[in-house]
Parts: sequence; C-alpha cells; structure tokens
Amino acid sequence: MSGKRMGFATRLGAIAATVGSAVGLGNIWRFPYEAGQNGGGAFIIVYIACVALLGIPVMLSEFIIGRSTHSNMKGALRQLAPKSKVYNMAYVCIIGAVMVLSFYSVVCGWVVEYICQAVSGSLHGHTPQEYSQIFSDFVGSPVKMIVLTLIFLGINFAVLLKGIQKGIERVSAIMMPLLFLLLIVFCINSLLLPNAHKGLAFLFYPDFSALTWRGVVDAFGQAFMSLSLGVACLVTYASYFSDETSLTKDAVVIASLDTLVAILAGIMIFPAVFSFGMEPQAGPKLVFEVLPAVFQQMTGGYVWAILFFVLLFFASLTSTISLSEIFIAFLVEEHQFSRQRAIWISAGIVGSLSVLCALSFNVLKSFTVFGMNIFDLFNYLSSNVFMLLGGLFTAVFVGWFIDRRVIVEQLTNRGRLSVPVMNYLMFCLRYVAPVAVVFIFLQLVGII
Ligand code: PHE
Repeated sequence: MSGKRMGFATRLGAIAATVGSAVGLGNIWRFPYEAGQNGGGAFIIVYIACVALLGIPVMLSEFIIGRSTHSNMKGALRQLAPKSKVYNMAYVCIIGAVMVLSFYSVVCGWVVEYICQAVSGSLHGHTPQEYSQIFSDFVGSPVKMIVLTLIFLGINFAVLLKGIQKGIERVSAIMMPLLFLLLIVFCINSLLLPNAHKGLAFLFYPDFSALTWRGVVDAFGQAFMSLSLGVACLVTYASYFSDETSLTKDAVVIASLDTLVAILAGIMIFPAVFSFGMEPQAGPKLVFEVLPAVFQQMTGGYVWAILFFVLLFFASLTSTISLSEIFIAFLVEEHQFSRQRAIWISAGIVGSLSVLCALSFNVLKSFTVFGMNIFDLFNYLSSNVFMLLGGLFTAVFVGWFIDRRVIVEQLTNRGRLSVPVMNYLMFCLRYVAPVAVVFIFLQLVGII
C-alpha cells in the first residue's frame, strides 16, 4: 500500500476497505464483553455518545489529514505543520498499532482454533458449562496458544507480502455482507431462546448504578478501538481516497455500520448468556464460551459454527492487515526500507510481543503489571491510553492547529459540497476532545 500508492478504485471500494478495517473482533468479541462488564445498557448509551461526540469527529480529522496530504501519518504531520516537531506524535500512533496487533492476533489464534474444532466436530454436543472448560483447557496450553497465534500472523504477513489491495478489497466486499447476514440469523435465533427478554433488558435497560468512571473510559476506548481510530490507520486509508468522496457522508456511514454490527453482536450474545445461565461479566472469554452453546441450539449447528468462525476470521484479517500497514508504510516511507524488509521487521516485533501475550494465559499467568497480565495490559493500554491519546491529539491538531481552509476544502471537496456539520465538528474537535483528555487522564491517575 505504500511506495507506489494506489488509490481505491471506487467509492464503494474505499468504504468496503474502511469498514473492513473497522469491523472485526472489536465489534464481535470485545464490545459484548465490555458491555457485559460495565452494566449493559448504560455502557451502550455512553458508547453511542462517544461515537457521535468524538468517534465521527476524530474519524473526519484522520480523513482530512490523510486525504489532504496523501501521505503516512508522520509525513502528513510534517507537511501540515512544517515548523513544529509535532510529527513525533506519529510514534504514539505507531506504538498503539503494534500493541493492538500483538494482543489482537492472539484472539485471532483462538478463532483459528475454533474453526478447527468446528470442522472436526469437537465443538458439538456439549453443555454450556463444558464450553467453559474447553476454552480454559485451550488457553491453558502454551504450545497451542503460541502455534495458533503464529499461524494467524503467518497468514496475515503472507497476504501483506503478496500485495493486498485488490484481494483484500474484493474479499471484504463479499465477506462483510455475508457476516452481516449471518449475524442477523443468529440474532433471530437468540431472540427465540427461553428467557431472551432478560438478555435484551440487560443490553438495553440503562442501569447507571452499574457503570463506573472506569467503565466510561472503557466506552471511549472501545469506540476508538472499534472505529480503528487513534493509530493513524484511517489517515493511511484516506490518503488513497479519491477527491470526489464525501468525507462527511462516508464517516457517518462507516461509524453507523460499525456500531450496528456491535449492537447486533450484543443481541446475539446476551439473550443466550441469560438463557444458558452464564455470566455476563465473563470478560474476554465470553463470546468463545457462549457462541458454541448457541450453535448447539440450531438445526445445522455444525455448519453454522464453521461458517461463523470462518467469517469472523476474515473480518479479523481485514482489520489486522490495516493495522499492520501502519507500521509497514512508516518503515517504507520514512526509513526507505524495501517493502519486503519492512514486513519481516514488523513480523519479528509483533510476533515476539504476541508470544508474550499468548503466554499470559498460562506460563506467565502470575506475571502482572498494575494488576493485569500482559495480554490485559496490552488490551487496556492500547485502547484506553494509546488510541485515545492518538485520536484526541488528531482532534486537537485539526481543531486548533491546521489552516481552517484545508478543513473546509476537504469537507466541501473544494466548494462542491455543502457541509452543514462544520460548526458541530469544530466544537467537538476544539472543546469536547480536550475535556475528554483531561477526564481520561484524571481517571487514569486515580483522581476520579
Ligand atoms: N477496528 C478493529 C476492530 O474493531 C480493530 C482495529 C483497530 C483495526 C485499529 C485497525 C486499527 O476489530
């Protein structure tokens, strides 16, 4: 994607690739367990507010930076603010991206394992409680965890070595709608389970007493993770957008689709959680324990399970590819590495860090920092510190520092579109974002 830059061929291609980056484990694996741990309905309200007040504005800022410069994050910041050292903020984004990729690929390894189990039939015919045991046994095995994580990363970097654009665009254009349809089928199935209404009540009834300040920060972090913000991913993608694309419309479409998929995932999971008497606060293992039990209930469950995990695999792959490109594009464009060399370096660094994350479920279980094992630490730090800081920096940069004419030019496509949201956007970027940074900082250091 770097070097000789190719643009996205069509507006639909650009949207499909960006939705491909946004929709992934963040929506289907992370959103339900974050909502489960933070009181369900109240979390969702805060989450949607974050998407509207910060998510869409920050997405637009990344689009503006990327499309006005046609460059990677560091190069873009250098072009837009030539006299300052602000381009160093690009490193926060890159470290964030590497961190996300390191723990994310471990979960992708779980998806690979569940595809194998689904195909072999061993995912079939158990009680909900037995699925808990299957998951614990699996993550308890260091060899299995490392091998599966590395297999996934191997596939990821192999696709990148082949040159990705066309393949990935085409794959996401087919897989994403299929995944969407499948989610709807599973939602209907979950809604027909006994006690489904309890799950729906949990998901949509806002019990604010169950939401802590930490939960509020988690909702911000989750919104940034799910929309692929704060790690310069969308800066890179927007540098390939055509000048005809309406950035505002695209941002609203992408954010809405992404949020819809997350909420559908919630509707698929929580009725089943309550119906099978499982624990909504189960954390990262939630989806992997609940879904196999859901497939059990369905006629043709064997096929549904395979189909679901295969589609989840592709949704994850389109996300990890966009995550990997950030570091690769940076190495190629800023350090003049060949693309191949840049891919090997990234694979080495991400591979080593992901092994540490994989081991934190078994061998390194008792090694904790701030009370979290390495996997949890990476998961927490990347979304709640790096992505938030990166995203909010982007907002403040566009809100306060770059020439307003650049913003107007990008949003109106040089005067051809009218953009009624300009004042709203500037308000969010200039005021809401800095207030949010202060709030998050106070929460992180324990003052709130
Ligand atoms: N948005 C992706 C998901 O929800 C993860 C991601 C984060 C992808 C940052 C790219 C950049 O799974």
